[in-house]
Amino acid sequence: MSYPYQIRSLEEYRSAYQASVKDPEGFWAGIAANFQWRRPWDKVLEWNFTEPQVRWFSGAQLNITENCLDRHLAEKGDQPAIIWEPNDPEEHYRILSYKELHSKVCQFANVLKNNGLKKGDRVCIYMPMVPELAIAVLACARIGVIHSVVFGGFSAQSIADRIQDAQCSLVITSDGANRGNKQIPLKSVIDDALVQCPSVKRVIVLTRTRVPVSMIKGRDVWWEDEVRKVETQGNPPCPVEVMDAEDLLFILYTSGSTGKPKGVVHTCGGYMVFTNYSFVNVFQYKPGEIFFCTADIGWITGHSYIVYGPLSAGATSLMFEGIPTYPDAGRFWDIVDKYKVNILYTAPTAIRSLMGFGLDFVKNKDLSSLRVLGTVGEPINEEAWHWYHDNIGKGHCPIVDTWWQTETGGILISNLAGVTPEKPAHATLPLPGVQPVLVDEKGEELQGNNISGNLCIKFPWPSIIRTTYGDHERCRQTYFATYPNLYFTGDGALRDADGNYRITGRVDDVLNVSGHRIGTAEVENAINMHTGVVESAVVGYPHDIKGQGIYAYVIFNGTKTDDESIRKDIVQTVARIIGPIAKPDKIQLVSGLPKTRSGKIMRRILRKIAEGEFQNLGDTTTLLDPAVVEEIKGGRL
Ligand code: WTA
Repeated sequence: MSYPYQIRSLEEYRSAYQASVKDPEGFWAGIAANFQWRRPWDKVLEWNFTEPQVRWFSGAQLNITENCLDRHLAEKGDQPAIIWEPNDPEEHYRILSYKELHSKVCQFANVLKNNGLKKGDRVCIYMPMVPELAIAVLACARIGVIHSVVFGGFSAQSIADRIQDAQCSLVITSDGANRGNKQIPLKSVIDDALVQCPSVKRVIVLTRTRVPVSMIKGRDVWWEDEVRKVETQGNPPCPVEVMDAEDLLFILYTSGSTGKPKGVVHTCGGYMVFTNYSFVNVFQYKPGEIFFCTADIGWITGHSYIVYGPLSAGATSLMFEGIPTYPDAGRFWDIVDKYKVNILYTAPTAIRSLMGFGLDFVKNKDLSSLRVLGTVGEPINEEAWHWYHDNIGKGHCPIVDTWWQTETGGILISNLAGVTPEKPAHATLPLPGVQPVLVDEKGEELQGNNISGNLCIKFPWPSIIRTTYGDHERCRQTYFATYPNLYFTGDGALRDADGNYRITGRVDDVLNVSGHRIGTAEVENAINMHTGVVESAVVGYPHDIKGQGIYAYVIFNGTKTDDESIRKDIVQTVARIIGPIAKPDKIQLVSGLPKTRSGKIMRRILRKIAEGEFQNLGDTTTLLDPAVVEEIKGGRL
């Protein structure tokens, strides 16, 4: 299979872009024609950004797994679909051909059916990066069950919140996970979470680390036993559930500036078309190439560019269980060398961290198979860009700087590898079908170039968020209410003289720590749960490796031990309530917080102080207690 919609030159990009703006419905109908539908659409697009309501390909029917698996069997049945590299390089790798992946997905889908699941049910998946995670995801999609994957680094409380919100009836997990030289007891975390989750009737547990677990009678079953039952039934086929294009495919929780994480909802048809289109075009994937995305499937990047995008394109997707620094900081390069990876897609935070270990770990690794490099998740600074370009790409691999979000489902702004120009630290140009605008505070669209503003999108693309699960009003408020008739990204951006976008970062109270989205309000809530904490305020500050670090100002009047142990306890509390990824890097104990007379915390001031910028704090005389600013400045960590 080659891809008739793959853009091959700058001219082709320009004409595709123009066509997509002039006639979006015609444009996307032409691309969607390359997929397998059980029934064609009646209407390509219906939309308004006020309710909001967006429907792509309505009336059409399909199953995404038929497009990711079945349709490749005739020509690519023996080609690797998934290559899996274990955490421990001594353990044997695994290769699943399209045929094998198809049969394992059908088998596990039958397991899910035997356990009572049917179309529309919700399943929480909390698993390590093993092929069974991809199998579980696809098995859900095959029978119309909505998956909600939760990253393995989240705590019991975070899992419980997500399970309750989606009212999941089944959980798929494993005994434990390997991460570097650590083991994480996933099943026991699930046991803690489920104390609060009466909706869950069944837990399927995969064997991975063989750590002892407690299996609750009537609730918990082993993956392997369940699969054996299907085998004794003679491995019956598993016909796909025929889904409407706008039926829910999955829920993925992500942090916002207020409240608890929200369940971003993606649907079957549009998500399939756009993840495939963006995968094929941004990375310029050629059949037979090996694509290695280093993300975890627990995040949107893994959903779209380990599972659905590559597999729907019949690509070979490499999945890695471990971490970039185990057994040493050369691990990524060993993997590239071992499997002759052609396209490597990773995060700036990983690049910066590996940079810090020096070139010894890159030396003597054969990276000559690499053709395209990519980054995602946060702005990439020029130094990291050049290091990646020179030492990994050896000066000849284009780097795609891909900007997008959980809510956008796929890449919206990026250069197309080797086809449209790259520019260090710039995501550059929108993909066809994507219409970005920059607006000022009042929501006026800024015309022309060499400007900066808040980044919005003024027309729907096929994988735009449809709703936030169970709370449509929250979706409207968060994304469509700030500026009428625009989708607001929460990011600020510059547009240079040539129309290239440079994303400057969040303009709301969302932090981006090592490429992970964390809401300041969530971290504050977690800190405030610690006994003795009166109040707290959390801001981001520039961090050399993580991009942003977490700086917490805490008013504490509990039993006084020493400051250091108070800080440690608070960090532990945050790890328990949210997960280790949200641990504050710095905690400053203060006697008060700068507040306006109406009681609002002046985060702008706290942010400046955390950044070490004591000038231009603005007018502090109107604060309830101006003296507190001096105290905080004096105690900065
Ligand atoms: C940030 C990850 C600059 C941005 C796919 C966005 C980026 C948030 C880039 C979404 C990039 C993502 N350059 N910033 N190339 N890619 N971001 O939902 O602030 O985990 O709003 O999706 O990451 O994070 P999320």
